[in-house]
Amino acid sequence: MNIVILAAGQGKRMKSALPKVLQTLAGKPLLQHVLTTALSLQGKSSKTGPIVVVGHGTADVKAFLTNVSNEDAAFSRVLTVLQAEQKGTGHALLQALPKIDLQEPTLVLYGDVPLTSKKTLAKLAKLADGIRGQDSALALLTQHLSDPRGYGRIVRDADGSVLKIVEEKDASPAQKAIAEINTGIMVLPSGSLKKWLKALRASNAQGEYYLTDVIAMAVKDGVPIRTAQADDEFETVGVNSRDQLANLERIHQLNIANELMTAGVSLADPARIDVRGTLECGPDVFIDVGCVFEGCVTLGAGTKIGPYCVIRNCVIAKDVAVHAFSHLDGAKVGNQSVIGPYARLRPGADLANEVHIGNFVEVKNSKIAANSKANHLAYVGDSLVGSRVNIGAGTITCNYDGVNKHQTIIEDDVFIGSDTQLVAPVRVGRGATLGAGTTLTKDAPPNQLTVSRAKQISLQWQRPIKQATKAAVKKVIARKTPKGKK
Ligand code: UD1
Ligand code: CA
Repeated sequence: MNIVILAAGQGKRMKSALPKVLQTLAGKPLLQHVLTTALSLQGKSSKTGPIVVVGHGTADVKAFLTNVSNEDAAFSRVLTVLQAEQKGTGHALLQALPKIDLQEPTLVLYGDVPLTSKKTLAKLAKLADGIRGQDSALALLTQHLSDPRGYGRIVRDADGSVLKIVEEKDASPAQKAIAEINTGIMVLPSGSLKKWLKALRASNAQGEYYLTDVIAMAVKDGVPIRTAQADDEFETVGVNSRDQLANLERIHQLNIANELMTAGVSLADPARIDVRGTLECGPDVFIDVGCVFEGCVTLGAGTKIGPYCVIRNCVIAKDVAVHAFSHLDGAKVGNQSVIGPYARLRPGADLANEVHIGNFVEVKNSKIAANSKANHLAYVGDSLVGSRVNIGAGTITCNYDGVNKHQTIIEDDVFIGSDTQLVAPVRVGRGATLGAGTTLTKDAPPNQLTVSRAKQISLQWQRPIKQATKAAVKKVIARKTPKGKK
């Protein structure tokens, strides 16, 4: 089956520099949602990949296609054709004609209708199939709406057969009262489509070549027209404005939340979670309010995510507690670890089991072995940390000399006192203790106390006081001191 995605329009109502089809839903451009469905529907059997008709913001759309193809080779099947001037949906489809395999039917999709399911489209394609001995039919995806304003209406005869589609701007008052609308999505026999598209005229209220006019031509040619509906209305909702985009985002997120709950995840509030990618969860995961998940995130059984966490591309194992306001990006977290509140794990943070990372601790590109702790105010970067290590408050690995990054190695059972700087490259031997306030510039030997600290002294000393205060103090002293005494 050929799949053509119409995406040349500007999307004026978005009031954006970005072409409409690149606005994002659940963190992905609208067009990417449509293409993902199109690619999975088409499989690799089809001669050509999905064809996108581009016009406004062509360079941006092409750049997006290049990027997404680098991430997922399936997208390199996507073709583009240019519609230099936007003269209507029929004119748009006409531009794709040279790339269409005329032996196969053509499915028309819209770049701004992101959530039509593969199931619905497969149903529509099946409906268009030629039944034994018959020519293939034209299949239309329609929808009954309580408020059909703005859409093309499906006009049927007394028997209920489809006669034509009338656009809102060309409709009579009686036609405007029709509740069944054209979603725009249809499957057409390609040979006839070629003939029909060439016969289109722009003699209508908008002076455009309407794709919808091919319906009356099909009726005239005796091509059967069949209609189907999507299971859910949101599948056919298009995005024209930012409020429609925000509404569709909430609908989509609520669907994702419901899928998670069906799979055994507890959500404090299904209306307050955002998944912008894929979130895989084991049983009995709990997610509190306001969390954002981006990219690929895996949460193991029994893991609990506190409120307002942002988690991107992370693998988090079983029975982990991530407390409120933590930010995890590109990290691996082992079983029964405790993260946050206010922790930051950056790419390459690789924590084994039962590691504790507390408030205002940042870990980057570091392996931390089991049972080690950094509970308060620390920076651990480019480090190898052993097991049962205690990293005191205020510890900093000084990994950057202004040009290069260097590694810090902290072996098993090390205790690092508070406010210690480890100037990398440096190694702390197994079982060593670093005294609080140490600036470590040379390796610390195993099992010894290493401390670098100025010697503590105590002096008699008068803290300076302000002149005005001095005078006031003198006065008070003068008042309180009996005469003759000093
Ligand atoms: C179209 C249908 C209408 C249907 C509605 C569903 C026509 C004439 N009308 O109307 O029956 O109810 O969709 O949402 O088809 N596009 C191009 N090139 C163009 C014009 C449009 O690529 O020259 C693309 C747009 O980028 C968009 C899609 O086609 O993705 C639909 O165009 P739009 O102008 O929004 O059509 P509607 O007026 O909404
Ligand atoms: Ca539209």
